[in-house]
Amino acid sequence: MRSFQGRDILSLKDFERDEYLEIFRVADELKVYAEKRSNADLLRSKTLLTAFYQPSTRTRLATEAAMHRLGGHVLGFSDAKMTRAGDFYQESIKDTVHMLEYYGDVIAMRHYQQGAPAEAARWASVPVINCGDGWGEHPTQVLTDLYTIWKDKGTLDGLTVLCVGDGRMRTMHSIVYAMSQFDMEAALVFPPDMSLPEEIKADIDARNVHYREVESVDKCIEEADVIYMEPVVQADYTKSRVDPENADKGLTPAAYKVTRELLRSKAKSNAIILHSLPRMDELPTDVDSTRHARYWFEAYNGVVMRMALLALVLGAAE
Ligand code: CP
Repeated sequence: MRSFQGRDILSLKDFERDEYLEIFRVADELKVYAEKRSNADLLRSKTLLTAFYQPSTRTRLATEAAMHRLGGHVLGFSDAKMTRAGDFYQESIKDTVHMLEYYGDVIAMRHYQQGAPAEAARWASVPVINCGDGWGEHPTQVLTDLYTIWKDKGTLDGLTVLCVGDGRMRTMHSIVYAMSQFDMEAALVFPPDMSLPEEIKADIDARNVHYREVESVDKCIEEADVIYMEPVVQADYTKSRVDPENADKGLTPAAYKVTRELLRSKAKSNAIILHSLPRMDELPTDVDSTRHARYWFEAYNGVVMRMALLALVLGAAE
C-alpha cells in the first residue's frame, strides 16, 4: 500500500481498497477524541491552512475542527474576495500556493474551478486536500460517507446504493469511483439533463463498476441498502458564489424525492439515508425522525474522517 505521508488527496479515482480500509482503521483509532470532545496533541507542531474559494459550512469547519481535535493550528480564508486572488489582481493558483506553502503544513482547498486543487498540488511542497472542486470531486466527503456506511453495515461489499440527485455533482463522481473497489451495485436516479458526464461513465465502465440508470426513486428504492442523496435543485458549482436572491430555486420533482411515505411503503427496513447537505426539498425534514436517517451521524463522522486524513498525510499515523 502506498504511504499517505505527504500525499495529496485530490480524487478517489485511483484509491485502492486497502487504502480505504486503512483510513477507516485510523478513523476508528482517533474517533475517541471527537466522542469525548477532547483535544489530543498528535499534531501540535503542525498547521492547517484552509483556502476556500467557495462557500462551505461543513467541509471547512469539520476540517478545522479535526485539526483542533488533534492539537494542531489553523489559519486560512473562507472568502477569496478578502485575498489578492479575489480582488483586482486575480492572483493565480500557482502564485497563491507559493505563499500558502510557507504558512502551513497542509492545505485544504475548495474551489469553483474543477482541477484547481490539482493545480495547487503541482506547485505546493506540502500536501493538498481537495475539499470540493467545481463539478469535479469531493473526496473527503465521500470518504466520510463510506466510513458512515461501513460503521453502520459492517462492510461495503454486497450493498446496493441508490444514488439520487444531480449526476454532475462532485460527490456523485467520487462515490462511483470508490465503488470500483468494493462489491457494490449502484442504481443512479438523475434527471436526464443532470446525468453522469460521459467521461466518468467511461472511467467507471473501464473499472467494472456495476450500475444502471433508473428513471425514478420509486422504481428501485426497495432494493437499496443505502440511499445516497443530493439535491437536483442545485447551485452552480462553477461559480464562486451564487446570489440566493436571484437564483432559480424550483421544486424537486417527485421522481427525485425520498419521503416518509415512500420509505414506509417500499424501502427495506434497514435501509439508511445519507445526504451530504445542505438539502432542499428532496429530503423532507419529517424523514429526520425515522430510523433510516443517518445524515447527522454522517456529519459527525466528517470530523472523525478529516482527523484521520490529517494525521495520515502529516505522518502522525501509520
Ligand atoms: N457537504 C458539503 O460539502 O457541505 P458544505 O458545502 O457546507 O461544505
